[in-house]
Amino acid sequence: MDAKDRLIQELRRVERLVVLTGAGMSTESGLPDFRSKDGLWRKHRPEELASVDALLQRPLLFYEFYRYRLGLLDGVAPNPGHLALAELERQGKLHCIVTQNVDGLHTQAGSRNVYEIHGSLRQARCHTCGRSHPVETLRKPVTSLSELPRCRCGGLIRPGVVLFGEMLPEDALSRAIAAVETCDALLVIGTSLQVYPAASLPRLALDHGARLWVINLTPTPYDAFADIVVTGKAAEVLGPMTRPHE
Ligand code: APR
Repeated sequence: MDAKDRLIQELRRVERLVVLTGAGMSTESGLPDFRSKDGLWRKHRPEELASVDALLQRPLLFYEFYRYRLGLLDGVAPNPGHLALAELERQGKLHCIVTQNVDGLHTQAGSRNVYEIHGSLRQARCHTCGRSHPVETLRKPVTSLSELPRCRCGGLIRPGVVLFGEMLPEDALSRAIAAVETCDALLVIGTSLQVYPAASLPRLALDHGARLWVINLTPTPYDAFADIVVTGKAAEVLGPMTRPHE
């Protein structure tokens, strides 16, 4: 039995599963990831674009980047991998999804218990006072400093994502940690496990006696500690889970 069949068999038996997803979960929906050959960070350094420093020191580049990323969300939909995870939750097997993704596709697929530990590109807020703002505000082109989107308090309106150098949302992270500490298995899908603290979750799961399973196109630093490693595309591997058990 190959790794993919073993994983599917385990997913049919597992009782308390937690899933950790990264950008590789959404590439089959048409969204680029970050570190693959045509990923977002192949053309830019994250710190240049996705940081508080960029927001404050290079705002025109910052707003152009996030307007571009918001445009990428138009017309993308959950893929069979997202739908399979929502099905596993409906079957009572999947306790929660901890996602690094900010695209909202897990929720769109019908998953209810989703912890967005890197925030969400579907929301916007004031960088100074924290007030929420419609994300459409960030779709307007910003071509001069006089056009920067500002809150009525005068602060800059920024996407609801965690920028490099910022703390992760405390509530989402603490719930994610509690779930990983008590799961029977952690399934890691579509992440290079390069960014902390998300990348510390596999070790946390193993330290609490959980099994570790991986679905990824390329090797990850935790493959050696995993019981099952499926080298493949998330939607292709998980797609059969959306069909009732034959
Ligand atoms: N199926 C499975 N794996 C895939 C697929 C796919 N269809 N497509 C890509 N991958 C794999 C790639 O091989 C890569 O190892 O998904 C991984 C994506 O890794 P990254 O591009 O580094 O994305 P991610 O791990 O989510 O990045 C983490 O870094 O830039 C920050 O905040 C950003 O949340 C992001 C964090």
